[in-house]
Amino acid sequence: MKVMAFVGSSRKEGNTKKIIDTICGSVTESGHEVEIYNLAELDNKGCRACNACQTNKVEYCVIDDKMTALLPKIVEADCIIVGTPVYMLQVSGHTKNFLDRLYTFFVEADNTSKLRPEQKYITVTCSGAPAVAFKNVTEYLNMIFGGYSHMINAGNIIAGNLSGKDDILSQPEILKQAEEIGRKLVIEL
Ligand SMILES: Cc1cc2nc3c(=O)[nH]c(=O)nc-3n(C[C@H](O)[C@H](O)[C@H](O)COP(=O)(O)O)c2cc1C
Repeated sequence: MKVMAFVGSSRKEGNTKKIIDTICGSVTESGHEVEIYNLAELDNKGCRACNACQTNKVEYCVIDDKMTALLPKIVEADCIIVGTPVYMLQVSGHTKNFLDRLYTFFVEADNTSKLRPEQKYITVTCSGAPAVAFKNVTEYLNMIFGGYSHMINAGNIIAGNLSGKDDILSQPEILKQAEEIGRKLVIEL
């Protein structure tokens, strides 16, 4: 089983990363492969709207950066985990830049997706406000991965009341949920 996790926080060891590490810990302890990427370090140059991906000029993307190198791996992954802090009421800029680059997987011509319906996804969102305030961010991510891409939802973690980078450590119920989502993923794949 191949799992790819993407952390959209500018804080390297913040709450989003800690939750993702907990999910991934359950996966690796069962001997499965996990790769965790910090989106801030991907040198993502951003979608240029050149439409080369939609006109079959390239398999995935003309941009020469680390993000393009990851695109074929994303299609092959059994599960992708996308974690983002809430920045200015939405996903972080690093996360949005990442999501824009997934446009290559959408086939506009017939409204299908190159992502496979048997692939799973998990989302993690962290906000300063109480969790209930930003369910819309999770709904947005579900629309992209579950809706447009027809992937299977393997869990949504919505964590709130997080200000300091270690605040999640005082919410053991969320870390337990993360652990369980990771374990369930291993059992079901
Ligand atoms: C630029 C910026 C914008 C933010 N905007 C919001 C916001 O709109 N709503 C909110 O509840 N929290 C907001 N926060 C707080 C973060 O969502 C929160 O601290 C989160 O836990 C950060 O994740 P991290 O610990 O993984 O870095 C913002 C933080 C930053 C740095």
